[in-house]
Amino acid sequence: MSVDVLLGLQWGDEGKGKIVDYLAPKYNVIARFQGGPNAGHTLEFDQTKHVLHQIPSGVFRPDAKNVIGNGVVLDPVILQKEIVELQNKGVDPTRNLYVSKKAQLILPTHRLLDAAYEQAKGDKKIGSTLKGIGPTYQDKIGRLGMRVGDVLRNDFAELYQVRVDEHKKKLASYNYSYDLAPLEQDFRQAVGFLKTLKLIDSEIYLHDQLDQQIPILAEGAQGALLDIDFGSYPFVTSSTTTAAGACTGLGIAPRHIGEVFGIFKAYCTRVGSGPFPTELHDSLGEELRKKGSEFGATTGRPRRCGWLDLPALNYAVKLNGVTQLFMMKADVLNGMDEIKVCTHYQLSDGSEIDYIPYDLREEEVKPIYRTMECWDFDLNAADNISDLPASFHRYIEFIESFVKVPINLVSLGPKRNQTLLRQGSLLADA
Ligand code: GDP
Ligand code: IMO
Ligand code: MG
Repeated sequence: MSVDVLLGLQWGDEGKGKIVDYLAPKYNVIARFQGGPNAGHTLEFDQTKHVLHQIPSGVFRPDAKNVIGNGVVLDPVILQKEIVELQNKGVDPTRNLYVSKKAQLILPTHRLLDAAYEQAKGDKKIGSTLKGIGPTYQDKIGRLGMRVGDVLRNDFAELYQVRVDEHKKKLASYNYSYDLAPLEQDFRQAVGFLKTLKLIDSEIYLHDQLDQQIPILAEGAQGALLDIDFGSYPFVTSSTTTAAGACTGLGIAPRHIGEVFGIFKAYCTRVGSGPFPTELHDSLGEELRKKGSEFGATTGRPRRCGWLDLPALNYAVKLNGVTQLFMMKADVLNGMDEIKVCTHYQLSDGSEIDYIPYDLREEEVKPIYRTMECWDFDLNAADNISDLPASFHRYIEFIESFVKVPINLVSLGPKRNQTLLRQGSLLADA
């Protein structure tokens, strides 16, 4: 038995939450391996919309165990809020929720530091979600961090104070003003709540599940183009968002990785700063934003929108060893006059490349597009991919021929039942 991985191939918000929830009945365990409350994963069913930040998206499937792995940075305050909100909706996520003792704790001062760093950067800011992600991973790699398991130690309060005193010195050097007392009050209360959850050695738990041949799905957050090593640095998040992150973020050996499901939108979006070669600054971008409801699930910020970028998608497919592609939000393009897809970048010297250059600065990269006929069909009557118009198939086949991986699933709306499988796909056969 192996661990399948589902991750986003663009700049996040590809629709991971929807698909993890859709696939969850095939798996007994759903595990988050990186990121933290910067994620916003949306699930829609039974006329209700849920947004999850730290809780894995298997939580609505009664038999799925949900694991927050060691690679995650966890904010106990946001976790408690998420749990209480779900409980108010009649779902108790605590029954099947397991939290790694090795996950790093986001302290209130990490959030303040995130804001201080961004403020100091001025117009060069990353556009962070301000959830404290960067500073918490900074402490982790600096071997200074606090971990979830520390909440069980008798000297937790002392350890916390040492960290906070260090953080305060940094905040002073940034001239950043703040009011820590109310944040600390919420934190202390949430740490008390965290202690009541199932805090485990999640790698041992997962090894045991693997030994018992129990199917596991690893749920990525963010997207490959926000990866700390391979994303558009420094406009990235601070974790390994690629398939390799599932190994380190869960304690799973590479030989146990099975399918890698790569999901992408039929177009592109990005929230926050950083290069985006195919971004549309005109009314078409606005149309995509409106039709696709492209507003951040965590911060509410409008998402920047643009055409599908094949060199970037190809790069992400290769970085992750994607075995199956899932194309999301194809309904958003439905009925457009024509669509464009970027196949190459032209550099300032006139040469054309079909890969992402070292420095993807917008002024140096001009996207070369292929224009394609769009599709227009009754979305409510679409039950089978093979019945969809030839223009739709041409788009899918063109992408497949470029990245050389099959598109086995197409999503035509946010709901569970707006999902079509390609005939012969591994999913359909499962
Ligand atoms: P995630 O972070 O990858 O889980 O994605 P988000 O939840 O941040 O953003 C995806 C948004 O698109 C959510 O509002 C989903 O409900 C919605 N969505 C997912 N799939 C589709 C689809 O195929 N069509 C449309 N129109 N919306 C979708
Ligand atoms: P999901 O899982 C989209 C972006 C932020 C910012 C950059 C760094 O919902 O796809 P951070 O707070 O991580 O330091 O911000 O990364 N970002 C996301 N964009 N979806 C996400 O998560 C994101 N998580 C972080 O907007 O540009
Ligand atoms: Mg999101």
